[in-house]
Amino acid sequence: MSSISILGAGTWGCALAILLTGNGHDVTIWTKIENEARSLNENRKNMKNLPDADLPEQVKITLDLQEACTDKDLIVMAVASPYIRQTAKAASPLIKKEQIIVNVSKGIEDKTLHTLSEVIKEEIPQADVAVLSGPSHAEEVSRGVPTTIVVGAETKNTAKYIQDTFMNEYFRVYTSPDIIGIELGGSLKNVIALAAGVVDGLGYGDNTKAALMTRGMAEISRLGITMGGKIETFAGLSGFGDLFVTCTSKHSRNWNAGNLMGQGASMDEAMKKVNQVVEGVNSAQAALALAQKFNVEMPIVEQINLVLFENKSPKDALADLLMRDKRKEYKSLEW
Ligand SMILES: NC(=O)c1ccc[n+]([C@@H]2O[C@H](COP(=O)([O-])OP(=O)(O)OC[C@H]3O[C@@H](n4cnc5c(N)ncnc54)[C@H](O)[C@@H]3O)[C@@H](O)[C@H]2O)c1
Repeated sequence: MSSISILGAGTWGCALAILLTGNGHDVTIWTKIENEARSLNENRKNMKNLPDADLPEQVKITLDLQEACTDKDLIVMAVASPYIRQTAKAASPLIKKEQIIVNVSKGIEDKTLHTLSEVIKEEIPQADVAVLSGPSHAEEVSRGVPTTIVVGAETKNTAKYIQDTFMNEYFRVYTSPDIIGIELGGSLKNVIALAAGVVDGLGYGDNTKAALMTRGMAEISRLGITMGGKIETFAGLSGFGDLFVTCTSKHSRNWNAGNLMGQGASMDEAMKKVNQVVEGVNSAQAALALAQKFNVEMPIVEQINLVLFENKSPKDALADLLMRDKRKEYKSLEW
């Protein structure tokens, strides 16, 4: 049995608390938000997004970061991506040397363009920082729906420890050394999911969405490999696996926001209606900045940015994508 703290009491944090308690671990959830702690203590469930999933009685809820960070075998970082740095900074003085922290949040920090595990490592250099990512909607994990995911870590030992801690008969965990590839796949797919929602909202067909997903992954892997990720990772669970689930599932907030925009809503209207952090919007800007920084061609990312921030009509954006210069599918493949 491990003693585990989950920082962040949102949908994913609560679903993982249920899973880890079911695996026999001693779980504490920390949140900075008083209302959230009160509601979880009163209702023993996340009323907003997981109203049918009961938190086991033994899960402790705390507002005290010191309590959450002391004497833990594992800390799970599950706050929404914009708050990762401030949470890591606040936790840092409380974290022991070589503390294992696994990041389960997805996104790219807008100011630095760093991945979230890089941000955590910058704030908590003494920690052993890993990442867990893949096609894993909290709503389904909380119901015990069979799910697969991958853990990336600096050492085989850390990856195996996290695999052993999370894995059970409905939650299969693979291991990988490719932390950067896993994080980039998990973050950048949100941008493509927004675009997939847009084409569905416009009323186009399955062909269009398959085109967008496949060419979207071509862009993600082109950037990811340039940044040090491995091609296998982009074909794997945190790459195509997560892209697939996010572009096709009704649970996906990024797809839902894009779908509303395809039906004519502005970005602000779509965000209000979805009423959750739509990380693809921030990631779209970050992806464009990374494409420019690493000089990688990302035409779908460019067009979704124009739709989101320059009021370009989604229909015109798609027409411009289809009528780009003719080219080979992969530059690397020669006759
Ligand atoms: N929901 C899922 O199915 C799922 C699955 C895999 C990964 N993720 C990732 O996990 C992360 C969290 O997602 P979620 O669905 O739980 O989001 P959520 O909106 O349900 O919860 C986010 C949580 O962040 C915390 N938070 C908010 N403001 C904060 C602040 N100022 N300081 C500290 N903490 C603050 C709160 O505890 C809040 O509940 C995201 O990056 C998401 O991409 C989510």
